[in-house]
Amino acid sequence: MQNSLSAYTKKYDDLNYGLSFADGHIVRFYERILKYKLDFKAGNMLDFGCGNGVHSAFFKSKGYQCFGVDIVPSLKQAYEKLVGGGGCKIIQPNASLVGLFEEKMNLILANQSLYYLPKNTLVQNMDEFYEMSEKGAVFFATMMSEKNYYFKHAGKEDSQGLRKVVLEGRLNETSYIHFVKNATDLKELFKPFKCLYLGEYDPIYFYEFEGSAHHFIYVGVKE
Ligand SMILES: C[S@@+](CC[C@H](N)C(=O)[O-])C[C@H]1O[C@@H](n2cnc3c(N)ncnc32)[C@H](O)[C@@H]1O
Repeated sequence: MQNSLSAYTKKYDDLNYGLSFADGHIVRFYERILKYKLDFKAGNMLDFGCGNGVHSAFFKSKGYQCFGVDIVPSLKQAYEKLVGGGGCKIIQPNASLVGLFEEKMNLILANQSLYYLPKNTLVQNMDEFYEMSEKGAVFFATMMSEKNYYFKHAGKEDSQGLRKVVLEGRLNETSYIHFVKNATDLKELFKPFKCLYLGEYDPIYFYEFEGSAHHFIYVGVKE
């Protein structure tokens, strides 16, 4: 099965990849949706595809207890340096999440990570996220859209919904991405959770360089 492990191992281990500060759309999700709209109380958070843990560190600073999952072995140390000990698990790409954590989660965050999964793993992981969530848990995920410049470099969709994306130049990488056409498609993908809000972001782009970095946002709840 195709996966993006070697692309991310190179990015993290050789190219110093990873944010130093929380992304703007995560800060705004926290302030506008969790705090203002939902009056959500801090609890346990699962950060799926956690990277170096920058978003776990942000939620930790807001009182959450954070747990991370990723596929790149070196991220365990990076995460624990930034967020604290014990909370990060490294899995094989597309493995089951059952039994990884004893804790039930109140918030599941999957920022820019679920589009690396083939459809069968995505369906399985969604059921597992739902199962490991407390009633009332919030689920936040982003998916890359066909407006994103990655799509211009994508091949044909395979039977698992993934397209091979070969980028040359600045990123110089090969990854496998599940693109979505519109925000309403997210309701179908993430349907164990009831949809509360749909959104999108496109942080910055230069018209003549690379192009849009557009993603859709989904916020749901376990009823
Ligand atoms: C664009 S980065 C986002 C990192 C982090 N969520 C953030 O917002 O800074 C994508 C992350 O997904 C991870 N990833 C890629 N394929 C994955 C998979 N099959 N299962 C879990 N994580 C995966 C990568 O290793 C990487 O850390």
